[in-house]
Amino acid sequence: MRVAIIGTGYVGLTTGVCLAFIGHSVSCLDSDESKIQALKNGRIPIYEPYLADVLEEASPNLTFTTSYAEAIPGADVVFIAVGTPPTPSGAPNLEYLSQAARCIGRNVNEHFTVVVNKSTVPIGSGNWVGSLLRDASQQRPDNLKADFAVASNPEFLREGTALHDSLYPDRIVIGADEPRALETLYTLYRPILDQTFSAPTYLDRPESVVAVPLVSTDLASAELIKYAANAFLALKISFINEVGLLAERVGANISEVARGIGLDSRIGPRFLSAGLGWGGSCFGKDTAALIATAGEYGLHMPIVEAARTVNSRQRDRVVEKLLHELKILKGRTIGLLGLAFKPNTDDLREAPAIEIAQKLIDRGVRVKAHDPIASDRFQREHGSMGVSVCHEPEEVAEACDALVLVTEWNQYRDLDWEALAQKMRNPFVLDGRHALDGDKLTRAGMRYTTIS
Ligand code: UGA
Repeated sequence: MRVAIIGTGYVGLTTGVCLAFIGHSVSCLDSDESKIQALKNGRIPIYEPYLADVLEEASPNLTFTTSYAEAIPGADVVFIAVGTPPTPSGAPNLEYLSQAARCIGRNVNEHFTVVVNKSTVPIGSGNWVGSLLRDASQQRPDNLKADFAVASNPEFLREGTALHDSLYPDRIVIGADEPRALETLYTLYRPILDQTFSAPTYLDRPESVVAVPLVSTDLASAELIKYAANAFLALKISFINEVGLLAERVGANISEVARGIGLDSRIGPRFLSAGLGWGGSCFGKDTAALIATAGEYGLHMPIVEAARTVNSRQRDRVVEKLLHELKILKGRTIGLLGLAFKPNTDDLREAPAIEIAQKLIDRGVRVKAHDPIASDRFQREHGSMGVSVCHEPEEVAEACDALVLVTEWNQYRDLDWEALAQKMRNPFVLDGRHALDGDKLTRAGMRYTTIS
């Protein structure tokens, strides 16, 4: 099938590359000329494991462009995967979405095209995009009768495992009010639904993935599924963090509590890792948007609101723990291990490290930090904060009063903790992710504690 993808961020680029990999002819469009030029030259603007490999294999089926006139006419499916950044009210900014819809509307022709919302958009956006497309297509000077339908196909990929999540998803959700839109998307996704494509050698198909369930529903339900899924995952994390606070007080071990409850198949073991809480571009934005949408209908969402409150409390707990250990923070040097909002990405959006660094700097602390991948980006985007970015964890430890593990990159598990303890002024580690072996650190001469 002929596919166009508008937006080459995490979602757009991964979707485009995966659809090209399974055999479709894909044109990826972005209004950012420099991004498209980089992609044409084989440079990927984001860090995502295996993206470069899959892109290379899929390249015969992929083109990159800034031109709607090139990408849209004759396409079977057009995905809108543009950014919807948060506004101060919590509602997402839909400027890029409306721009994309208008440009698509001006370029669709008599060939039946399904225009798919892949960006996380507020409930009702499907209808709205439909009306923008209709208006724009009717303004064409050639009076051509455009033929299109709108669908919603929310994305569930996680940064860091985006290729795996796209090729072997838990489910595919398609919301459409017209059966022919559903039929087109069913055909598009068939190789993934039936798992008939040959798996890349470096991204084995998990044995449990034989076929992928399809949830076909109406537009509004598909839109709500996306928000409800992210809100549920967010509140699962906040729930374990709330229990973690009590666990700490009563002397229970939160990792064991999480394992003990997660083995109940009704609860499930994933997204029960206690610690600093969630960051990233999705959970914060989507829970805020869900609350904002509910507000438009005169509804409160107290459970989702509480999840947000607990999450922000986790960041304060870092400062409380450091205060408890060091008594005075002013004039101290504190090292952060990890800057990205989670491992295997260089994404710094709503990264706990930034919030924590700012809280410490506000209290007169000198903050040093290391990240194996996100350091350069941090320097570019947050260089003015005054954090000293180090090339090695050993440099961070030098004359430090405390180390805080913020992002659980694998390489931090096997550091030479004895050598680090000797370099520190005060050998104390606060493990914000329950990722380190506390006994090993204690044997290495560190005082070790966790967030809960
Ligand atoms: C999240 C969802 O997991 C995806 O399904 C969804 O498609 C995506 O948002 C989106 O809406 O685009 P992502 O934000 O990439 O994906 O990352 P997650 O792996 O979900 O992690 C989010 C945050 O939660 C991270 O800061 C992570 O450290 C934290 N987390 C995760 C915990 O604190 N505890 C856990 O047990 C799991």
